[in-house]
Amino acid sequence: MKVFATFIAAALPVVVVAFEHSTTTAQIRLAYHGQHGMTVSWNTFQHIQHPKVRWGLSEDNLNNTASSNLSITYPTSTTYSNHVLISGLAPDTTYYYMPSPLSIKCKDAKKQRPYSFRTSRRAGDKAPLSVAVAVDLGTMGSLGLGTTAGSGVSPNNVLKPGEKNTIDSLASSLSKYEFLWHPGDMAYADYWLKEEIQGYLPNTTIEEGYKVYESILNEFYDEMMAVTATKPYMVGPGNHEANCDNGGTADKAHNITYTSAICSPGQTNFTGYKNHFAMPSDVSGGTGNFWYSFDNGLVHFIQLDTETDLGHGFIGPDEAGGSGGIGADPVNATMDAQTTWLQADLAAVDRSKTPWIVVAGHRPLYLSHANDSTFCSPCHEIFEPLFAQYDVDLYLSGHAHVYERLAPLGQHGVVDPAELNNPRSTWYITNGAAGHYDGLDALQSPRQPYSRFGLDTNDAVYGWSLLTFHNSTHLTHEFIASNNNTVLDSATLYKAHK
Ligand SMILES: [Fe+2]
Repeated sequence: MKVFATFIAAALPVVVVAFEHSTTTAQIRLAYHGQHGMTVSWNTFQHIQHPKVRWGLSEDNLNNTASSNLSITYPTSTTYSNHVLISGLAPDTTYYYMPSPLSIKCKDAKKQRPYSFRTSRRAGDKAPLSVAVAVDLGTMGSLGLGTTAGSGVSPNNVLKPGEKNTIDSLASSLSKYEFLWHPGDMAYADYWLKEEIQGYLPNTTIEEGYKVYESILNEFYDEMMAVTATKPYMVGPGNHEANCDNGGTADKAHNITYTSAICSPGQTNFTGYKNHFAMPSDVSGGTGNFWYSFDNGLVHFIQLDTETDLGHGFIGPDEAGGSGGIGADPVNATMDAQTTWLQADLAAVDRSKTPWIVVAGHRPLYLSHANDSTFCSPCHEIFEPLFAQYDVDLYLSGHAHVYERLAPLGQHGVVDPAELNNPRSTWYITNGAAGHYDGLDALQSPRQPYSRFGLDTNDAVYGWSLLTFHNSTHLTHEFIASNNNTVLDSATLYKAHK
């Protein structure tokens, strides 16, 4: 490592000042906690003894206070993540709130109006429900996806001057969805070294790189506040949350491949991800921010972990010995904990209340993609039989930076002959086209027989998914182009749900 560090420092100018943290951060983000609770999380530069959230039903009367003693950090982090649960709320109700204290400038703090959120609907509430889904969504602007990129990046993968990105699109569409689901790969802070090697970011030394990594994380979560301070932000783990260089970054010009050995303490083992979020696993029997479930209206939502803890003798791709070269630890010591939980969770779903079951995992099970490591292959054995047994309606994924809508598929990828007209099988959609630095890939050509629609780097379009549950029998999935909010693909699934 020392040799690498010396080489980089000798070969390239050292610039670290640009990555020192700014004087402002907030990173406010919400998460459902059942139908009567909301967790408010935010970041401050200082440790807070008792983080507080004032809240109420009126913007002008925040007459309640919730607090906690959760103000946590990790080595190399420049901030503390504060988490406060507000409980005892009414379902499907708008509340106003203000976290305290915030690390924002005094003059900004004084004019800051309260934020607002709407709580989850009751399970069984039959009103139509819309949900935004984005996967593989990274930092926008000078640290990530912008109008320029470093060497070797396809012109199709950068934004055109003035082009709206996916965070812009989500922020301008707040009235269209109840919450944002992000099943893995956020910020892409672990691209810091790649972006330096490609000449997009100023070069640092390996030893100073941790500052760049943390600055990208802080930037991303601040950018996301345009959505996440208003809409619950439900997340799952992706490989880019795991460590500081995604298990290996190659500098081909100098014939160097860096390994996870360059990662500073605190930048391995999903540490930032574990600190940053507070998903409702405690009320759904899940594990941390890795797997959990929640109901909202007519839908039972399940987030799975395709990165670690696959159980049944399989090594997760991000675990020590896994294909990603990342070396993370499992997150649950109990044997086969994830599938044991999944089976029990699925068995407990009351389909008379939540006829729809939608599952998200970071990696696809099926896709027109040539790279085997893209898939969660063990998922065919550990998850898919449970999808079939419990009639899971839809599986959403990303990881490949493409959009592909497949047919409903039985086990082993057999196309359900009913297609979208009351199939017995699970519908599969991958949308990893939300955008990050150099973020579009190519689909296989020709595509797999089960493919029904696709977009990839050749289409040069970033986008996100809008799911609309019209009632207990009809669900529409739309691909929304981020640049102009138009719908580039729409398909409706009918399930009788008898
Ligand atoms: Fe990924």
